Amino acid sequence: MRTAISTTLLLLLILCTLPFAFHASQLGIRGLGSGADTSRIFTPNAPLTNFSIFSHMLVGAAITVLAPLQLSLWLRTKNPKTHRAIGRILVFLAIPTALGGFGYILLRGTIGGPAMDAAFALYGVFLLTAAFQTIRFASARNFTRHNRWAVRFFFLIIGSWIYRVHYGLWFAIIGQTGHTSTFDGSFDLLQNWAFFIPYLLILELVFIRRDGPFWARNA
Ligand code: HEM
Repeated sequence: MRTAISTTLLLLLILCTLPFAFHASQLGIRGLGSGADTSRIFTPNAPLTNFSIFSHMLVGAAITVLAPLQLSLWLRTKNPKTHRAIGRILVFLAIPTALGGFGYILLRGTIGGPAMDAAFALYGVFLLTAAFQTIRFASARNFTRHNRWAVRFFFLIIGSWIYRVHYGLWFAIIGQTGHTSTFDGSFDLLQNWAFFIPYLLILELVFIRRDGPFWARNA
């Protein structure tokens, strides 16, 4: 029964994240292609900026699709080789995802200006840190710490999707209040952080409850 519920939830998560991953990959392919992309992200006569941001979308789409698979109990217990292979791919692809985002922040800057630049840069730093810690503790066979970092890594990967979900819900329920076309409205400023910080804090509370406070943990 537990397996059936977790499999259903997993399938639901995959179905929910797929449209965003598809959108990101399409935008990435268009941007990397002829340069005929019309989105506001495209910068004319700036091949490096465009390569940074559009390749980050393409690899970001791949990790968004792959990350939920790592939650599968079946994969972890019955097919650990595949779990490990996907884990390595995720860590490997998280690097260009974050580097592409950093590149765009440095070369052009986000639409929301310094506040959004800072938040997205921190998001990238957290993603990279979680990726390295996840593989580091798996290699050290410290599975308690590996598990904690892997869950953080997962939430950071799907953070980009969560960002769009927050906007979708806000627009559907409240409307455009707090949002501006330059992403400096009150809701935009909150959103800069709200797609990853609260989730990481909630995870810490869960870990404290499960494993005790971090300063008193053995593993
Ligand atoms: C985890 C998977 C990720 C996916 C699938 C993804 C996807 C996307 C997409 C589709 C856009 C275009 C937004 C639009 O439609 O207007 C975008 C923008 C952007 N992303 Fe990511 N992203 C990911 C992770 C990251 C990370 C880790 C960083 C930080 C280093 C980052 C930094 C940026 C920046 C700076 C922009 C431009 C913001 C703007 O000015 O509008 N992304 N991303």
